[in-house]
Amino acid sequence: RRHLLGIEGLSPEEIVGLLDLAEEFVVLNRQVEKKRATLRGRTQINLFFEASTRTQSSFELAGKRLGADVMNMSVSTSSVKKGETLIDTAATLNAMHPDVLIVRHSASGAVELLARKVDCSVVNAGDGAHEHPTQALLDALTIRRNKGTIQGLTVAICGDIAHSRVARSNILLLQALGAQVRVVAPPTLLPKDIERFGVQVHHDMRRGLADVDIVMMLRLQRERMNGSFVPSVKEYFHFWGLDEAKLRYAKPDALVMHPGPMNRGVEIDSAVADGAQSLIREQVEMGVAVRMAVLDALSRNLPNG
Ligand code: CP
Repeated sequence: RRHLLGIEGLSPEEIVGLLDLAEEFVVLNRQVEKKRATLRGRTQINLFFEASTRTQSSFELAGKRLGADVMNMSVSTSSVKKGETLIDTAATLNAMHPDVLIVRHSASGAVELLARKVDCSVVNAGDGAHEHPTQALLDALTIRRNKGTIQGLTVAICGDIAHSRVARSNILLLQALGAQVRVVAPPTLLPKDIERFGVQVHHDMRRGLADVDIVMMLRLQRERMNGSFVPSVKEYFHFWGLDEAKLRYAKPDALVMHPGPMNRGVEIDSAVADGAQSLIREQVEMGVAVRMAVLDALSRNLPNG
């Protein structure tokens, strides 16, 4: 493959291959000397049209640890602010002969459109409410390392499913590897076509979390709620926020995940986010390893790869 645009279309074998490769990078990243020369002489450009802490910094570290020259395009000070289009911006960067572009954009489908216009590899770092494939891969790696397998687990994805690319990529990946996926959300925060995803739907945290192995919490994505109903924080936390009382509905050894950024006191209580069952910091660590695995795998399809 030349690009990674989504989990959709990846085979279970390809997903497991990336997770196995990422395991090697987990070991490397815990060593004092963390560098490999896999991408030496290659150029990686991070092009983020939306804000990011985890994804952008981990892609930068991943590229650098593999020996690439990494450039972070500052979109806020670029000619995008003067009206240059996505495609013209991509064509401009393409003329500088990058080998890989890491792209985040607010519009679903924008990254795939851009991939058709450039000669290099493109990785989707999140496009609108569509996909965030490296997030799903790092979540799967985190689950596999803690539970030993994904096959047969029950995973509850809770909160704002409607606006979440993380939910969509995770549903596709977890189902591909044999997990049962539930979504737990008020009807207003579910996609209209939720039945298409083949997940169990719950409108109540007590039933939705009953006997699950993994509780995955999502942020209210207010930036994508243009014009639609935005719940009040107090009411939302009461019904949908994960606190210790609600977590007790899940299995005693259930683990808690959140892709970040977290809004403490809205979708998750600090006692749970920082508690013994939380994998949130480990997810961040796995993010670097998974992104190294993706860059390593794509590098084999670059010229001279
Ligand atoms: N999970 C995630 O994509 O975080 P950032 O928006 O900080 O990259």
